[in-house]
Amino acid sequence: MKLTLNGREIEAEAGRDLLTTCLENGVDVPHFCWHGDLGSVGACRLCAVRVYDGPEDQVGRIEMSCMTPAKEGQRIETADPEAEAFRTHVIEWTMLNHPHDCAVCEEAGACHLQDMTMATGHHTRRSTAPKRTHRNQDLGPLLTHEMNRCIACYRCVRFYRDYAGGTDLEVFGAHDRVYFGRAADGALESPFAGNLAELCPTGVFNDKHWSRHYARRWDMKATPSICAHCAIGCNVTLFERGGTLRQVQNRYHGAVNGSFLCDRGRFGMLHAEAPRPLPRLQRLGEPRRLAAEGRRIAVEIEVPGAGQPRLRRHRQPAPRSA
Ligand code: SF4
Ligand code: SF4
Ligand code: FES
Repeated sequence: MKLTLNGREIEAEAGRDLLTTCLENGVDVPHFCWHGDLGSVGACRLCAVRVYDGPEDQVGRIEMSCMTPAKEGQRIETADPEAEAFRTHVIEWTMLNHPHDCAVCEEAGACHLQDMTMATGHHTRRSTAPKRTHRNQDLGPLLTHEMNRCIACYRCVRFYRDYAGGTDLEVFGAHDRVYFGRAADGALESPFAGNLAELCPTGVFNDKHWSRHYARRWDMKATPSICAHCAIGCNVTLFERGGTLRQVQNRYHGAVNGSFLCDRGRFGMLHAEAPRPLPRLQRLGEPRRLAAEGRRIAVEIEVPGAGQPRLRRHRQPAPRSA
């Protein structure tokens, strides 16, 4: 099937959403809620483009590219002035309540919202109205929560509930507020919760270890690696600064881990930076003490053979020479 993208005829898959079609053909369209593994939901309204049904259609219309299926003969203009103005307005209202705290926000430098704001040319806040604020939650030892940065793209709950099967992260709504968090403070239960730090396009969820041992993205060295915590071997990127491991992130591999990691892989490697390594004596002594304790209990509860001297394996006699 053929369609025309910014004046260029391309091959496209019928029914595939236009945003994916554009991205696969090297044309960037700003977006927030669409995600390669989660698909489209049409929540953010940022991916507007002008779509013409065919050569006879001289007017076209503004469509959300992530929600519009590709059809034979369509003409798509991503740089249409009305579509560009629409996207700039979406960013402006998205930023109405945003704290604009890039200078102290961990996400800055790797922030999807920053990138999209620059891409759409929004640079001045016209509103002088007070900003809506939220209370943050303590989500346990792994993730930070800074709800004022939320842009309500719904990626977090879509991943957590629909993709990872978690039940303790919700979206709560009241009047003109939506809130993404737990019913009460407490550690997120899903063993995949750490993915929220990467999925969230702003700085709402972040890796707590990295936040405490912070380095800007451009100040860290990135090394591709493989997670060693189980046999799947997820692809990861290790971020280092000053000889210390600061952060572990997913490295996309379509056949192994897609865009995600489990929390063991994401946070487990950080044991290398434990603040107080166990003293050598303790390291050696503790397993021995536990093994001795295990033997004592086995004898006490009369596990068959426990406490008996081990049978020595008899040596095979050496073959006699002829
Ligand atoms: S979330 Fe992004 S845009 Fe918002 S303060 Fe942080 S870096 Fe800046
Ligand atoms: S918390 Fe992040 S991922 Fe969730 S809706 Fe807000 S901006 Fe989107
Ligand atoms: S990416 Fe299309 S509406 Fe959000």
